[in-house]
Amino acid sequence: SKPPLIDKYGRQLTYLRLSVTDRCNFRCYYCMPEEGMDFAARQELLSFDELYSLSALFCSLGVNKIRITGGEPFVRAGIIPFLRRLSKIPGLEEITVTSNGSLTSAQIKALQEIGIRKINISLDSLDRDRFFQITRRDRFEDVYASIFQLLNSGFEVKLNCVVAENKNIQDILPFVELTKDYPLAVRFLEEMPFNGSDTFLLPQWSHREIYQHIQSQYSLLEKLQSEPTSTSVNYRVPGYKGTFGVIPSFSRTFCGTCNRIRLGATGELRTCLYGPPALNLRDLVRQGAKIEQLENELRIAVSNREKDGFAAEASVPQTTHASMSVLGG
Ligand code: GTP
Ligand code: 5AD
Ligand code: SF4
Repeated sequence: SKPPLIDKYGRQLTYLRLSVTDRCNFRCYYCMPEEGMDFAARQELLSFDELYSLSALFCSLGVNKIRITGGEPFVRAGIIPFLRRLSKIPGLEEITVTSNGSLTSAQIKALQEIGIRKINISLDSLDRDRFFQITRRDRFEDVYASIFQLLNSGFEVKLNCVVAENKNIQDILPFVELTKDYPLAVRFLEEMPFNGSDTFLLPQWSHREIYQHIQSQYSLLEKLQSEPTSTSVNYRVPGYKGTFGVIPSFSRTFCGTCNRIRLGATGELRTCLYGPPALNLRDLVRQGAKIEQLENELRIAVSNREKDGFAAEASVPQTTHASMSVLGG
């Protein structure tokens, strides 16, 4: 088999994050303005055939996990047949999905049949009004219900909760309490500044502040072992069924072990969430590039991979950062 994708710091890229659309049925304040964005036209998106071939190429180079992201993956028509096809790629051990949870209920059976067992749901509040303020959509009940349907169907569910002052600080402790009776992994995320969001400041709630806020309420917290490549530092309140974690998405303390590579919905390849695209794979494919050439370009991109998010960011002016729905999270 072919040599794996390894950067010059010795990190092998085994985890592909595939954004299948930049569109979303929500309008989270930290992601998009109310009116939406200048979404890609259909022909600009990688087609399912292109997504499939590129995924197969990545898997032939050592990728064994693919996370499907968006936008909201379930707004793209044809996603289920695509996932079914994807699941048959040799070497691909796991497919996971990150979703806003508003459209998942209807797909649970299909996902199970395909062999998808893990799903990350974005949920920033347990209160209907605050949920509406944050997402600009009155869909709390649907999302909340889908979490328990997923759990009851045997899925491993993580909740991603972006923490921000004046938005959802009141929700932090109730989210931790939710882990008392349910085997959920709740993860609190630092807010990342993007163009599409209405804030452009440093997060007032860093991973330390989030942790201290929780710790001040619980005398004992058990620190858990996590995979070295994990984005979150994880804890359990002793006796609780679930866990909680903190993701320093803005402080990015986990870059040293990062095994991720990202393919945007219109073909941009990123070797870091914070950096500029290294190349556009869609353009190469549509220019008729052969597998060998794609592989060669991929290896060059990986060899130029920056050490961490700060180094990557230094090469992009802040104002060119797109929204998470373009980057795929
Ligand atoms: P698992 O595969 O379950 O570990 O999930 P994940 O944490 O990789 O995926 P998810 O889509 O739930 O991402 C959660 C958040 O982690 C993202 O929204 C980002 O804020 C952050 N994150 C994920 N990957 C990176 C990365 O490479 N760099 C940075 N800075 N943040 C990341
Ligand atoms: N800051 C932090 N997290 C964000 N997400 C989207 N935009 C931002 C942002 N500006 C999160 C979503 C989702 C994950 C993929 O990215 O909540 O869970
Ligand atoms: Fe949609 Fe996710 Fe962006 Fe919210 S964060 S608008 S759910 S893509």
